[in-house]
Amino acid sequence: MPSAKGRAPVLSRNVTIPVLNASLTSEPSPVHVWFWRTDFEESRCAELARLLSPAERAAAERFRFPRDRARSVISHAGLRLLLAGYLNLPPESVAFTVEGAGKPRLAAPGAISFNLSHSGVYAAAVVSRGRNVGIDIEEIRPNVAWRDIAGRFFSAEEAVWLDSMPEPESFFRLWTAKEAVLKAAGTGLTAPLDRIRVRPGEDAPPWNLRELDLAPGYAATLAFDGPPAQPEVRLLTGL
Ligand SMILES: CC(C)(COP(=O)(O)OP(=O)(O)OC[C@H]1O[C@@H](n2cnc3c(N)ncnc32)[C@H](O)[C@@H]1OP(=O)(O)O)[C@@H](O)C(=O)NCCC(=O)NCCS
Repeated sequence: MPSAKGRAPVLSRNVTIPVLNASLTSEPSPVHVWFWRTDFEESRCAELARLLSPAERAAAERFRFPRDRARSVISHAGLRLLLAGYLNLPPESVAFTVEGAGKPRLAAPGAISFNLSHSGVYAAAVVSRGRNVGIDIEEIRPNVAWRDIAGRFFSAEEAVWLDSMPEPESFFRLWTAKEAVLKAAGTGLTAPLDRIRVRPGEDAPPWNLRELDLAPGYAATLAFDGPPAQPEVRLLTGL
């Protein structure tokens, strides 16, 4: 199994592959969470865009606002740099396939699994081996019509829990838990949201759920199957 441990950085078109000092070799597989800022200046964004595939660049170009384009570019560049570190490949060579409901996976055979999420000025990714993984990060926005959304998509038990907790954080905690499960399963929002019953801070078998405290003003949840594990959380720097 490839290991990123102790490897020297490789220079690639003005971009250095971060030394991850992270390995997925132990059993059961560790669960690694990485997060990074996505609010870089345009010149850096243009450099990092060179790491992306034409399809990723085209997807970023479809955003109307420069801020959203930058977030898409930096999220995908960060993910490529991370996966390059684990796979010992140049970031441009990391190849993806997409499942029916849109979940990206690595095209190369092997058991490394990952999932990406982005919101506000942060991106977060989970990387593991031989597990289905999903992650969701959301900026806590007080102006979201969260009561309406909860009424439409949450179960009666979830609505009761929500009413007993401080708002709007509790909505985002619940929402990220649901979305992390749906992303781990690969169905995304094509599956009915009320079919997944979650309670923040508790597992939702077969899914292990872990709330992540990544940055003030953000809620994030990680879902993974297989044996329980304590996620190792790191800030990805040097982009
Ligand atoms: C996936 C989905 C849950 C994303 O929710 P979100 O909160 O807006 O976005 P996040 O930042 O958390 O995650 C986005 C990332 O999840 C990944 N992703 C996309 N579809 C996914 C899926 N079905 N399962 C897991 N991960 C998925 C991608 O890496 C995506 O990154 P990108 O948008 O930059 O390419 C939502 O867009 C969805 O359900 N999509 C599937 C439904 C759909 O429209 N399918 C179209 C083909 S049938």
